[in-house]
Amino acid sequence: MQNITQSLNKTIDFLKNKSNDFQPEIGLILGSGLGEFANNLKNKLVIPYGEIPGFAVSSVSGHAGNLVLGEIDNKKVAVMQGRIHFYEGHDIHKIIYPARTLGMFGCKTVIITNAAGGINPDFVPGNLCCLTDHLNLMGKNPLMGKNPDELGPRFPDMSTVYHKEGIELVVKTGKNLGLDIKKGVYAALSGPSYETPAEIKMLKTIGADMVGMSTVPEAIALNHMGIKIIGISCISNYAAGISDTPLNHAEVKETADKIADNFQKLIRKVATEL
Ligand code: HPA
Repeated sequence: MQNITQSLNKTIDFLKNKSNDFQPEIGLILGSGLGEFANNLKNKLVIPYGEIPGFAVSSVSGHAGNLVLGEIDNKKVAVMQGRIHFYEGHDIHKIIYPARTLGMFGCKTVIITNAAGGINPDFVPGNLCCLTDHLNLMGKNPLMGKNPDELGPRFPDMSTVYHKEGIELVVKTGKNLGLDIKKGVYAALSGPSYETPAEIKMLKTIGADMVGMSTVPEAIALNHMGIKIIGISCISNYAAGISDTPLNHAEVKETADKIADNFQKLIRKVATEL
């Protein structure tokens, strides 16, 4: 059986062949409803996940499932348009495979985005929020198992997963665009059921500002590889019990759709200045 590095090398060979040796500087992983960004790249090449060796395919509506290579202004980017989630039943190693691919492909920075429920009382749906840190409450660490030493150390430091200067760049860029970018701690649960109000109370007590079902596995894997990470949540709804409205995926997608324009402007500016 081939190991993870052999498998990733095969994936990279496939991508380089297919793209005439494209060399991305920045990677992006786009969350629920935020995938439209990838459609507006210049000189783009769209590769469905189903064609890429080693990739699993997402079954969630709002997640297209393409790797899109292209350019924004002066930067070459590799964009994961949609992701697979732990709650779909995939092995956790499959969840981080696209993130590891971005790292192996040469991306120096990866911007990870998601839709999240707002717990912090200062957050309202439609806000964009930079991750300053996270709580891994998924019940799994994606680095479990034999360590691929070529990718990173057995016991990686996690003191600064989210790049400090990157956070400041996002906040400053947001300000210039008239956006009030929040900062906060993201708690990741496995899902797929949303949280109960009691669980949200607990998350608030232990320091979470927002909650979601993604991002953290990818961030752990990229941090392991020494890649700079910027995490941005679109606050798509009040978390359970923060308002009286029941949660649903349609609302999550609707809010993400509404802020898609601002989100695109922000990412475009941030990417050109990285
Ligand atoms: N909880 C968990 N995941 C989410 C939420 C939420 O409230 N909103 C968007 N993704």
